[in-house]
Amino acid sequence: MRFKQLAILGVCVLVASAANSAAAAERVVLGLDDSLTAGIPGTGALTTAEISAWLANPANHEVLEVALPQGLALGESQVKGLAANPLTRAKIELGRQLYFDTRLSANNTVSCASCHHPQEGFSRHTATGVGIESQKGGRNSPVSYNRILSDLQFWDGRAGSLEEQAVGPIQNPIEMGNTHEAAVATLKGIPGYEMQFSKIFADGVTIDNVGRAIAAFERALVTGPSAYDYQEAWSRFAALDADDLQDLLEDDEELRGSYESAKANVASNPMSASALRGMELFFSKEVGCSACHVGANLADEQYHNLGIGMAAQEPDLGRFVVTGVEKDKGAFKTPTIRNVVFSAPYMHDGSLVSLEEVVEHYVKGGNKNHWLSEKIVPLKLTAVQKVDLVEFMRACTGSYPVVSSARLPE
Ligand code: HEC
Ligand code: HEC
Repeated sequence: MRFKQLAILGVCVLVASAANSAAAAERVVLGLDDSLTAGIPGTGALTTAEISAWLANPANHEVLEVALPQGLALGESQVKGLAANPLTRAKIELGRQLYFDTRLSANNTVSCASCHHPQEGFSRHTATGVGIESQKGGRNSPVSYNRILSDLQFWDGRAGSLEEQAVGPIQNPIEMGNTHEAAVATLKGIPGYEMQFSKIFADGVTIDNVGRAIAAFERALVTGPSAYDYQEAWSRFAALDADDLQDLLEDDEELRGSYESAKANVASNPMSASALRGMELFFSKEVGCSACHVGANLADEQYHNLGIGMAAQEPDLGRFVVTGVEKDKGAFKTPTIRNVVFSAPYMHDGSLVSLEEVVEHYVKGGNKNHWLSEKIVPLKLTAVQKVDLVEFMRACTGSYPVVSSARLPE
């Protein structure tokens, strides 16, 4: 009961417990526990001695009990992949190394971070991905965080899981330009990797295990609470009748604690008046951004046609290529609004350079085409309201965990 009430109030809750283990597993809050992604402590390349010591610590192999930070925690039922690929510190750390290691590419120049860089919002400020030998892809690099709440990957959802997605770029000729066989051979030839794979996975270095480790790392990349989340938690208290609230708080110490922290958080991370007005608009029936940007990650995991790129001679047909369903022509997966301020340019083709341009796209009712979503209609917004919407999106910004790009096996 207590647990349920706290969950409703959006306080961080347990989302997955370790595979039936009776022993008290270590409980971590993803996104807020930097030790998961900051690399093995120390400086310089990782020596095999350091890796040995790291692997010898049983705590690094325990399946973690995972919770999400306030805000995202409301999406607990959406969490994907932990049963099939349980998180351990050692696996997340191996995935971190692989994510930043250019040795996975054909000529040692490209890593996942080349297109999903922590300093560029886990995306890249280029219109489309730029891969090996500066080849340009056709689509914008989406963000690689909050994937734990997402099932199908890519703008068109063609990858069935994060594990499946993670091995794709390695042999994509315009991304990392390698083959899976060559990548596996390279890793086998690096003792630090060989040691980690054999300890963490029963079958050692395989391409599927590369996918599992990278996916584990990506699941640990989640955004911390934003001003919007603090506002939400506070408004649940604020919405209660004052007398009812008083009664509730009087006979419940834990709830009183949540109340006090909600009050303190909203006071120290306030949304501006403009952002608050933008929030009203975002969730209103008239403007209706939340018809698609909804749920804990502000993304419905569905595909919609906004008319982006549809004027091209041969437009990218998006989801249609995967499903063959007519209405999916030109439809792409709804991206998250969380931390979106850091990942310009926007849309699947990177054609809109700023959040202001995105808002203008919605105001004009998208680009007319045969398959335009019926939810996309012209909006009547004043100049101030347009600013307000952008301000609201800025208020959806939370912390990233500290991620080290260094400390790779020598
Ligand atoms: C050359 C740039 C490039 C490289 C290198 C690259 N990616 Fe991507 N990534 C992209 C682009 C572009 C897309 C979108 C492609 C599409 O939707 O068809 C994408 C999609 C994704 C997605 C899907 C996100 C979503 O919202 O569906 C994830 C996750 C991801 N990449 C992770 C990785 C990982 C892990 C690696 C390394 C193994 C990697 N990427 C390497 C450019 C790159
Ligand atoms: C019909 C569903 C739908 C509605 C309604 C909607 N969006 Fe979107 N949004 C999407 C989809 C789908 C994309 C990606 C489209 C593409 O790339 O072709 C997107 C992209 C975006 C992006 C770019 C994110 C990125 O990482 O590239 C932002 C910002 C955004 N929307 C904000 C808004 C705002 C603000 C509103 C309300 C005015 C809104 N959206 C209404 C579905 C929707």
